[in-house]
Amino acid sequence: MPRKNEATLTYQDKKIILPVEQGTEGETAVNISQLRSKTGLITLDPGYGNTGSTKSDITFIDGEKGILRYRGYDIADLSNNCSFIEVTYLLIFGELPSAEELAAFTTTVTRHTMINEDYKKYYDVWPRTAHPMALLAAGMAGMSSFYDDIASDFKEHAVDISTIRCLAKVPTLAAYAYKKSIGQPFVYPRNELNYCQNFLNMMFSVPAEEYEVIPEVEEALNKLLILHADHEQNCSTSTVRMVGSSGANIYASIATGILALWGPLHGGANQAVLEMLTSIQKEKISLKEFVNRVKRQEIKLMGFGHRVYRNHDPRCAIIKKACDKLLLKLKVKDPLLDIAKELEHIALNDSYFIDRKLYPNVDFYSGIIYKAMNIPTNMFTVIFSIGRLPGWIAQWREMRTQGIKINRPRQIYTGSTKREFKRVKG
Ligand code: CMC
Repeated sequence: MPRKNEATLTYQDKKIILPVEQGTEGETAVNISQLRSKTGLITLDPGYGNTGSTKSDITFIDGEKGILRYRGYDIADLSNNCSFIEVTYLLIFGELPSAEELAAFTTTVTRHTMINEDYKKYYDVWPRTAHPMALLAAGMAGMSSFYDDIASDFKEHAVDISTIRCLAKVPTLAAYAYKKSIGQPFVYPRNELNYCQNFLNMMFSVPAEEYEVIPEVEEALNKLLILHADHEQNCSTSTVRMVGSSGANIYASIATGILALWGPLHGGANQAVLEMLTSIQKEKISLKEFVNRVKRQEIKLMGFGHRVYRNHDPRCAIIKKACDKLLLKLKVKDPLLDIAKELEHIALNDSYFIDRKLYPNVDFYSGIIYKAMNIPTNMFTVIFSIGRLPGWIAQWREMRTQGIKINRPRQIYTGSTKREFKRVKG
């Protein structure tokens, strides 16, 4: 009789006992690390829907109940009460900072926001039309070549200073990518501004006139960055851990996270949602017909569905509320918001979406907020990257303290069996 913390697997004439492990929120996993050595079997789980790749103390999601917590704190509490830099500290160091800790951390990050002047030449060689995600990822990987203290060394100091450099310099790299795309001069960071204000200033100020950050826009950006800050073992975070597990440095690892995030099924969905809503508006497609196309599976309803959330995405409700608030404050009337709300209503009452448990996700309304903030569409996923940065860093650091074991899945080979070599004639 197997005990409570054991599972029994029977295969042919073999019977083996596998340990069952439990997390602090009751999630239960069969530990199969001995499976192959004891039975010759491996597991097959395309898309990793049933695979726990690691234990982690950072973020908890209950997809059935629509719960998201960073280090035990509910996402609504954090996004309503904290600054992004406070949440960053929480994710990376495990506790909310005291006033002194926050002040010291903020000062250190602020003092590292400038990027090497040679980066200007780097931006020069790209075409104006380059997607800023490409520039950001390549620029991020390139950072490792400016700081030789990280190359092969994971000592505490090197990791800490690299953490600060990533947090401080990514908004600068991102804003430079935008300035490059519109042919405006790069704007240097300014130390008297906070994290969000500084980013907005680097994006929108020009030498020819004064620019003042609109407080409501800053507030919305702060909220959006917090909502994006971590999401446990999602595609880009798993990529960061995967690459980091080879011993690659933090800049290289995070560069690959940025690239994974770019995809339209992941962070690129915010751009895809806005493009979808715009094409519905321009082509005057009826929403009924659009939803019918989705149901015939000719297209996807972007910004809908999630691998983990099968009830609702708690980030979506917060963004929807913030979106209404910002548009009202800025006196913006965006017909795309009306289209989005109607689409949501139709989908949530249709059996196709109900049966598949498809709900709006974090990306469904975020594009409309970004648009109201004057952020161009191709910068949406870049802002997601700035938001996700503390998560990637925290996860990379956690992986390192867990003892690096290279991530190397196996496969079931389905190709030709051994064949004789024959040159192809003709
Ligand atoms: N529109 C239409 N049908 C959908 C959608 C959608 N957005 N999402 C899932 N489905 C269908 C899918 O076709 C499948 O149908 P069937 O069972 O008949 O084959 C069923 O629902 C189950 O979907 P799945 O593809 O097995 O689900 P998944 O967990 O593999 O994929 C997802 C999750 C997010 C990739 C997917 O829902 C999707 O492509 N959504 C649109 C893109 C999007 O909004 N991505 C952002 C995700 S949240 C932010 C982030 O991760 O960065």
